[in-house]
Amino acid sequence: MRLQLDKALQAQGFGTRKACRLLVNRGAVNVNGVLADSPDAAVESDGLVLTVEGVDWPFHERLYLALHKPAGVECSHTPTHHPSVFSLLPAPFVTRGVQCVGRLDADTSGLLLLSDDGAFIQRLTSPKHKVPKTYLVTCAEPVTQALVERLSGGVQLNDAPEPVAGQGERVSERALRLTIHEGKYHQVKRMVAAAGNHVVALHRERVGALELPAALTTGTWQVLDGPALALVKATP
Ligand code: URA
Repeated sequence: MRLQLDKALQAQGFGTRKACRLLVNRGAVNVNGVLADSPDAAVESDGLVLTVEGVDWPFHERLYLALHKPAGVECSHTPTHHPSVFSLLPAPFVTRGVQCVGRLDADTSGLLLLSDDGAFIQRLTSPKHKVPKTYLVTCAEPVTQALVERLSGGVQLNDAPEPVAGQGERVSERALRLTIHEGKYHQVKRMVAAAGNHVVALHRERVGALELPAALTTGTWQVLDGPALALVKATP
């Protein structure tokens, strides 16, 4: 797609059209490594790399991110007790309107997807699509076979008409892996409580077909593209 440089900058989150024009006019922008001299220049978005104040920003028409969420940050723009996950992202990503794909509790760590593609967010979070989400659950009491069977058989939650089930697997004395297909408020904690135990730590390992990338250390993010993006997009 061909577009005007100031519009390309604006689409990538560098502020208002006026602010983007100023950036170019004061010599702060390179286009594919060459200093840009006019905000009105036409650029091709395919393969485009904008350099703004020395930092490279590959152009993404829509942005898809995987974040390794630490415990102790909130999935909200207006957090109450902890910093916001958005404070872990570069400012242009926030300006362009990236949102969490579902929420994790403040004390939950692990894979969090973010995007500015509304249809993608809708598809991954809609109950209709039953996207599987896998958690490593650390419990206060020993994980028994009976606990795993209760979770697999379904437990009654007060906001669900039918029992809610998950695929559980014992991992160690006090840990289990649980896959659920809904995204209800505090779902894993409430399911484990209803099955007679108590969650002391929760870590999301997988969303759909995408596993938390091993290279993502806690608090870091990566842009999803190529095969990793195909994996999440292929999610039912
Ligand atoms: N279930 C929970 O209880 N908390 C989360 O953060 C995610 C799933």
